[in-house]
Amino acid sequence: MNPKILVTGANGQIGTTLVSALREEYGIDNVVSSDITEPKEITGPHCFLDILNEQRLREHVKDLGITQIYHLAAILSANGEWNPLKTWNVNFNGLLSILELAKEEKIERIFFPSTIAVHGLNTPKTQTPQHAALDPTTVYGMSKVTGELWCNYYFKRYGVDVRSVRYPGIIGYRSIPHGGTTDYAVEIFHEAIKNNNYECFLEKDTRLPMMYMPDAIRATVKIMQAPKNDLQIRTSYNLAGMSFTPKEIFEEIKKHLPNFTISYKPDFRQEIAASWSESIDDQAARSDWGWAHEYDLEKMTQDMIFQIKKQYE
Ligand code: SER
Repeated sequence: MNPKILVTGANGQIGTTLVSALREEYGIDNVVSSDITEPKEITGPHCFLDILNEQRLREHVKDLGITQIYHLAAILSANGEWNPLKTWNVNFNGLLSILELAKEEKIERIFFPSTIAVHGLNTPKTQTPQHAALDPTTVYGMSKVTGELWCNYYFKRYGVDVRSVRYPGIIGYRSIPHGGTTDYAVEIFHEAIKNNNYECFLEKDTRLPMMYMPDAIRATVKIMQAPKNDLQIRTSYNLAGMSFTPKEIFEEIKKHLPNFTISYKPDFRQEIAASWSESIDDQAARSDWGWAHEYDLEKMTQDMIFQIKKQYE
């Protein structure tokens, strides 16, 4: 039988694409999107839901007969620094409500997105291993590390089947990220196509782990469909696609748009980026549940340019 799915934060960068993918996989009516805003396009059942309204959340889950929750609602790394306490409240208390509900209502499976923002200044910078020091400097990263530990706790103590990956920066053409440090890698395509010029808020040699949206969506659906006993890690799995610097992505885009120019004006996000890893070792995800990425910088750039050009035409 198909699961009945609730997606929180469904209007965000990942939610927008994930909801369509889940609707294709499980049927439109089996996937309810929710957020504190209306979706740009109504493509199926949607409800207004503030993740801090626990009672509403509970009512929706019961009334709709929800069996799985993809809990995407969160405030990202850069925006989070403008209001640390609110970010903690939304990111951490939002998750706790979901975990409690899952325990009480016997929700079959939960997906919790974690991030490369769990890494910090003492984390090995390259090929960061699955088990490494996690000492993030942003409140977003702190809320995600703590969230991972609580996921593990609810799994071990109450059997809540919560599954998680640490997303790298995600690049897609269907939606714009809001308030992340890796957002430049999406903005650069739009500016290249619209204006032939981009002012980058990170320094040119800042290498970060990244992933193309189709890979991120496949990873999400795959870990949620994996047999329970295959998943050995119940905090969160490292996940890798590619790694590049602003200069490298600029050069790749320039192959398609020879007049494209770039300038660099680093702001407070540079410090956040500098505290994260440059590349990730995701061997555990590959061997436990068969993860394999498909897109590298070249293949992604080609598709992004094709898709975004189409949007502006
Ligand atoms: N893309 C996110 C951010 O930049 C990282 O999880 O905040």
